[in-house]
Amino acid sequence: MILLPLILVALSSVKASTALPSRVLVQSPVLLENIAVRATSELLLTSFSSPTLFTFDPKTRNGTLNPAHTFPNATAITGIAEYRPGVFALAASITNTTTFRMSAVVIWSVDFNSRSPAVRKLCALPGTEGANAITALPGHPDTVLLADSVAGGVWQINTRTGSAHLAILDPSMKPGAPAPALGINGLHIRDAAPTTLYFSNSQLGTLGRANLRVEGGNVTAAGAAETLANVQSPNTVQNPDDFALDRQGRVWMTVHPGAVTLLSPPVTSGQNWTQLTAVGDSEGSDAALIQPTSAAFGRGSAREEHTLYVVTGAGQIVAVNTK
Ligand SMILES: *[C@@H]1O[C@H](CO)[C@@H](O)[C@H](O)[C@H]1NC(C)=O
Ligand SMILES: *[C@@H]1O[C@H](CO)[C@@H](O)[C@H](O)[C@H]1NC(C)=O
Ligand SMILES: *[C@@H]1O[C@H](CO)[C@@H](O)[C@H](O)[C@H]1NC(C)=O
Ligand SMILES: *[C@@H]1O[C@H](CO)[C@@H](O)[C@H](O)[C@H]1NC(C)=O
Ligand SMILES: *[C@@H]1O[C@H](CO)[C@@H](O)[C@H](O)[C@H]1NC(C)=O
Repeated sequence: MILLPLILVALSSVKASTALPSRVLVQSPVLLENIAVRATSELLLTSFSSPTLFTFDPKTRNGTLNPAHTFPNATAITGIAEYRPGVFALAASITNTTTFRMSAVVIWSVDFNSRSPAVRKLCALPGTEGANAITALPGHPDTVLLADSVAGGVWQINTRTGSAHLAILDPSMKPGAPAPALGINGLHIRDAAPTTLYFSNSQLGTLGRANLRVEGGNVTAAGAAETLANVQSPNTVQNPDDFALDRQGRVWMTVHPGAVTLLSPPVTSGQNWTQLTAVGDSEGSDAALIQPTSAAFGRGSAREEHTLYVVTGAGQIVAVNTK
């Protein structure tokens, strides 16, 4: 376990500026929702207010978002994740931006291995109102998992056949309040034994964990999910959104209105997870991080791998040096 840099400031102290060095790469008019990173270092970006998937090269100065594909019968794209090398699954929908409720949810596959992205419809999820983040299941390229923020559970989608079913339902994934509250929001897998699903719950303000059982291609939860931490500050109501897991098992959580909170697992079991504000502040007073929605580590070089890319609901792409 690597010691935290001393510049990180404890959650309880009030902070006006960024603790880790960070830089706004782009201020786009597109409100950003989710991020995935290609092996080429290129960022893939989705928006709650646009049916277009964008790409962005973080190595160009003053770069712009480039439209890669626009999906039909949709107003929003939420989750996106790579499930085979160069191939990504994403969730498009018609989303009411007041209630956050969705209709016409469709899961698409986008293959970047050819010159122009090859798009294929995987399945429709009629009746689903809360399609949020997507994660791949390591070692199972025929499976992606989708967080359902309204049902309070996780869909399993077969990327080969397009069959889908609600594989996990857990009270700790439910919103716990009526619309527009969202329950499970981000979800990511820690590829260790046992395979572990980490997830955030926006309305409950929690980080949770569930061990998964994968049998004959079917995913189930091995027991009830566990709540690991309340992502809250003493003085403001904060809502965790999506997050990135690092190699040390730490969680870099985007927290509305304006922080990235670093949650570290306890060294001794039975102790609590520690929480530190890594970027921004709990009051949302940092103009360089407004309504952060998702985060992902760069790829393609050692420098990229310690860069955390954070996207925001204000259209910012922020590069954070976590080294
Ligand atoms: C980027 O844009 C800013 C503001 O327009 C400008 O001052 C700067 O010179 C540009 N940098 C490069 C490398 O083009
Ligand atoms: C969003 O939902 C609200 C509340 O149900 C409704 O009043 C509004 O018309 C909806 N907006 C759209 C664009 O459908
Ligand atoms: C768009 O989605 C709605 C709701 O699922 C559906 O009724 C309609 O047929 C779709 N339209 C097209 C052009 O696919
Ligand atoms: C997987 O789930 C499907 C649908 O629920 C079921 O028909 C099938 O028997 C399951 N397979 C295994 C190995 O449990
Ligand atoms: C962990 O956090 C809870 C809730 O804040 C607190 O009640 C408990 O005492 C803490 N446990 C330890 C070991 O610090």
